[in-house]
Amino acid sequence: MPFDHNHHYHPALLRLLPPGPGRALDVGCGDGRFARRLAAAGMTVEGIDTWDEMVARAIAAGSPGPGTVEYRRADVTTEPLDLDAYAYISCLASLHHVPFDTVTRLRDALAPGGVLAVLGCARPSSLSDYAREFVSAPTNALARLIVFAGDQLNGGADPVAKAPVHMKFPPLNDVRRDAARLLPGSTVRPLVFWRYLLTWRKPTDHPAAG
Ligand SMILES: C[S@@+](CC[C@H](N)C(=O)[O-])C[C@H]1O[C@@H](n2cnc3c(N)ncnc32)[C@H](O)[C@@H]1O
Repeated sequence: MPFDHNHHYHPALLRLLPPGPGRALDVGCGDGRFARRLAAAGMTVEGIDTWDEMVARAIAAGSPGPGTVEYRRADVTTEPLDLDAYAYISCLASLHHVPFDTVTRLRDALAPGGVLAVLGCARPSSLSDYAREFVSAPTNALARLIVFAGDQLNGGADPVAKAPVHMKFPPLNDVRRDAARLLPGSTVRPLVFWRYLLTWRKPTDHPAAG
């Protein structure tokens, strides 16, 4: 497997799961790798993606249990989502494919107490953002080298179909501003590898959506 920046953050995203089983939605699920991890944690998972080939690949990979996972081809900007329904909604490297205010649809779909976890892609805005990215480049090269060497030792990596990469990343300051406006109380933590982690827990006394 080539080094994958999104997979690298799976453990951090899984730590945000609310306790107990519940419904989860993975937006832009790609080949379903993270959705399967949610199912392995006992969640009842729906994975949605607009790309047929990825949805087919995700379905073919099955589900590990003990939770379940169902995939469907759907566009998060238009798909009717049950209101106040999900304990956990994740977006891994998919939010920058759609207008940022799509998070309001996800906000409304979360159950009170539910968690929205966005592993987003953004370009640096401030001096400290640039300093972090300065570290990302060599770290990225080293991580790729280590994974490549491991693959070679194991007889070479299988070719893997990759989801389309959309490199039009928003500036991190825009993400901070819009998150504060649309998801009051959310946090946006900058990460290496041109990523950020946006976390928002829907207040239990949040007015019902709809
Ligand atoms: C960079 S890939 C990330 C895939 C996966 N989440 C991962 O971490 O490997 C972005 C995914 O978002 C999907 N996507 C783009 N626009 C979408 C939309 N409007 N609704 C749902 N999925 C979308 C793409 O088809 C693609 O599979």
